[in-house]
Order: sequence, then C-alpha cells, then structure tokens
Amino acid sequence: MKHLLKLLDLSESEILDILNLADQLKYEKKHNIEHHLLKGKSLGMIFQKSSTRTRVSFETGMYQLGGQALFLSPRDLQIGRGEPIDDTAKVLSRYLDGIMIRTFAQQEVEDLAKYGSIPIINGLTDFAHPCQVLADLMTIREYKGEFDNLKLTFVGDGNNMANSLIVGCLKVGMKVAIACPKTHQPDKSVLEFAKAYGDKFFMSDNVLEACKNADVIYTDVWASMGQEGEAEERKKAFEGYQVNAKALSVANKDAMVLHCLPAHRGEEITAEVMDAHQEIFDEAENRLHAQKAVLVKLMAD
Ligand code: CP
Ligand code: NVA
Repeated sequence: MKHLLKLLDLSESEILDILNLADQLKYEKKHNIEHHLLKGKSLGMIFQKSSTRTRVSFETGMYQLGGQALFLSPRDLQIGRGEPIDDTAKVLSRYLDGIMIRTFAQQEVEDLAKYGSIPIINGLTDFAHPCQVLADLMTIREYKGEFDNLKLTFVGDGNNMANSLIVGCLKVGMKVAIACPKTHQPDKSVLEFAKAYGDKFFMSDNVLEACKNADVIYTDVWASMGQEGEAEERKKAFEGYQVNAKALSVANKDAMVLHCLPAHRGEEITAEVMDAHQEIFDEAENRLHAQKAVLVKLMAD
C-alpha cells in the first residue's frame, strides 16, 4: 500500500492489517507504551473544509509517533491563489514525508498521488472518507468480535460515508443495506462494485425494510460540507430518513449505532438514540488509533 486514496484500492488483507495494528497501538497507548516509529517525519495536512476529529486525531497521532504535523489551510497555501496541484505535489514532496488532504474532488487527491512522490492520505472528499470507515470497522470488531455476516444498515444520503461504508464493509465480509431516497443514491461506481456481492448488498427507499435485522445502524448528516446552500431542500428530501427508536425496534437486539459526527440531533438521528449509544464516542476515539496505524504503514522506515 503506497497511499490511502479510497478503500476500493485496498485488499481485504490490507484493511485487516491496518485494523490489527490499530488494535495493538490502542492497547499500547492505554498501557503507556510509546513507539516513536515516525521520529523526525513530517505530515502536511491540507484542509479545504472544516474538521474537528480528523485534524486533531492526525495531529496528535503524529506527535504520539514521534513526528510532527503541519496544518495547511488553503488561505495560507498558494493553492488558494491558483497554484496547480501538480506543482504543489512536487514541491511538498521535497519537504514532507506524507500528506493528508481533505477536499472536494476525489480527482485532486488522486492527482496529488500521481504527481507527488510521498504517501497521500484522503482525509475526506465528496466521494470517500476511508479514514473514518477504518475507525468504524475497528469499532464494530471491538464490540462484535468479528465481521462475518454482520449486517450494517446506512440510513440517509448516498454520500461519501455511504460510498466508503459499502466498500469497506463488503470487503471484510459484512452485509450492507442502504436506506436512501431514490434521488440520493450512492455513487454509480460503488453500486457497480457492490453488484459482485449479490444479496450481501441491498438498497431500499424504506428505512424499516433496510434496518430489519441490522447489527449496526449508521447515519450521517443530510447536508454534507459544501452542500450548505441545499440544506432546506435536503431537509424535505430526507424527511423520515432518521435513526430513531422505531428504526432500532426492527434491528437485532444489541444493535450498535454509529455516526461519523458531527451529528444533527432531531434530523438524521434523535437525541434519545445518540444519548443511548455512547459507542459513537469510541468510534470517534478510534479515528486516532486507526490513523496512527495508517501513518505507520505508509510512512515508517
Ligand atoms: N468524522 C469526521 O471526519 O469529523 P471531522 O469533520 O470533525 O474531521
Ligand atoms: N458527509 C459528511 C461527513 C463529515 C465527516 C460531510 O462530507 O460533510
């Protein structure tokens, strides 16, 4: 593995290797065992969109591994004034040991990898959020012990989260159901990928049908970053696409609820369900451990 651009590029064993190392790093952190596996290394972090979890977990993760992280906002970089991504990639490759980028177009992330000569990590695009799904899989395995035949249902927008969950969960042997309006389905390329998994993948516009016998119910905001202007129209389109007591009542007993956060209580999830499912915060913590594993796999000597 040279980069982490999207989960479609990773094999099942590459995903499991990351998760195993993440479990080990989490255990060692809890027992104050330090590894400075990235001593002297620098990660550049380009953020074209806001972030709480991704920024703080990557920055502290690099520190804990003995390296440093540089926060690079487009306001400060020349990218914001039109410097091409290929020149930026070539120049930053001369200073840094890796780049984490959060941006709009997936192509920009792919171009950084194409023109640069250092590992590139996708910290969220409109198409994918692979770091989040690695932390999600880590959390599911912590709670459920295994992946085989577990069913994850995603409720809401067929967005970057839905795209990455479909790929990540199917690759490790889970079943995936998506409940979304016909007008907001996941990316065509992802639906094409899912076809090969036969009845392990299911899509419906009916929340209760999709949530039936789910072991994990997942949701995300109705309007993603960059779609703020469509918020009102989206509220109408997603009415009823909510993780609530009714959705949970048809899921399996002990079903987990996950959310990448930030959450909008009263929209895609009720406050009651959020408060009853504190595993959402284990999921947020696991961003740190999963990303440290990714950083070690990509950047350690
Ligand atoms: N889930 C997630 O990526 O959160 P941030 O937007 O806060 O980084
Ligand atoms: N779909 C959301 C995820 C945030 C972590 C967004 O892209 O804004």
